[in-house]
Amino acid sequence: MNPSMLSSQAHEPILTVSALSKHFWGVKALDGIDLEVLPGEILGIIGPNGAGKTALINTITGFYRATSGHIKLGHEDITHLPMHQIGRLGVGRTFQNIRLFKRMSVLENVLVASKALAQHPLRSLWAGRQRKEAMEAAMHWLTLLQLADKSNQSAASLSYGDARRLEIARALAGAPKLLLLDEPAAGMNESETQQLIHDVQKIRSSVGAIMLIEHDMNLIRQLSDRILAMDYGKKIAQGDADVVLKHPEVLRAYLGIEPEGASV
Ligand SMILES: Nc1ncnc2c1ncn2[C@@H]1O[C@H](COP(=O)(O)OP(=O)(O)O)[C@@H](O)[C@H]1O
Ligand SMILES: [Mg+2]
Repeated sequence: MNPSMLSSQAHEPILTVSALSKHFWGVKALDGIDLEVLPGEILGIIGPNGAGKTALINTITGFYRATSGHIKLGHEDITHLPMHQIGRLGVGRTFQNIRLFKRMSVLENVLVASKALAQHPLRSLWAGRQRKEAMEAAMHWLTLLQLADKSNQSAASLSYGDARRLEIARALAGAPKLLLLDEPAAGMNESETQQLIHDVQKIRSSVGAIMLIEHDMNLIRQLSDRILAMDYGKKIAQGDADVVLKHPEVLRAYLGIEPEGASV
């Protein structure tokens, strides 16, 4: 095979978002967003509250219907697919506000998202081989996220940091090509955040690519290969951390600092 074909395939985006808009009555939550997520990368997404970061994840995952524009996963147009199908094609996510099944055990929370069981829904939990496969996969993710010894506890009994990690384990159980993390460090203390940085580094090779929304600039700096900054549903800057975090539009959006020489 032609080696240049191989390398071009390796660089084909996992996700391509083109001119994506999502409007709610008068509010333009997303207003013509273009972006690509490349294989193996962590794309950091920053922006002040209300910038449209969660709306971006919600629209990619099919929770919101796009008003216009296109979303492609690899070559497949997923813009108008229902949420469960987008999940099955390989888009996993965590939520800004933790959403766990609190009465279920830690292990059960991961099992419900299991790819092995989703492929055999009728035989589901009772089918020996699928069950064993799903259990092994679930324990693998729980071990990776230091939750294996808590697998039989109820999800409600977990500390905040552990609950956030369980959300990640559950998303991984769906074997995503693309993992979307919505403010995973929100509400975490310093040591929990450091642990999270370590965990994301550990899991990155298990998924095709990660899109990471965060306010914690230390975390964003340490984890992101590239950063995209948003405000009012638009992309205002994109590139390396050093460039984006000093970009005048980003400073203005976050800190209200006017670029030098700007007329008001
Ligand atoms: N379901 C919705 N209905 C109405 N407006 C919404 C809805 N979801 C988001 N918005 C609006 O879209 C904008 C972007 O919100 P969001 O994506 O949650 O911002 P961020 O995650 O960057 O803080 C906000 O003005 C928000 O009020
Ligand atoms: Mg949000």
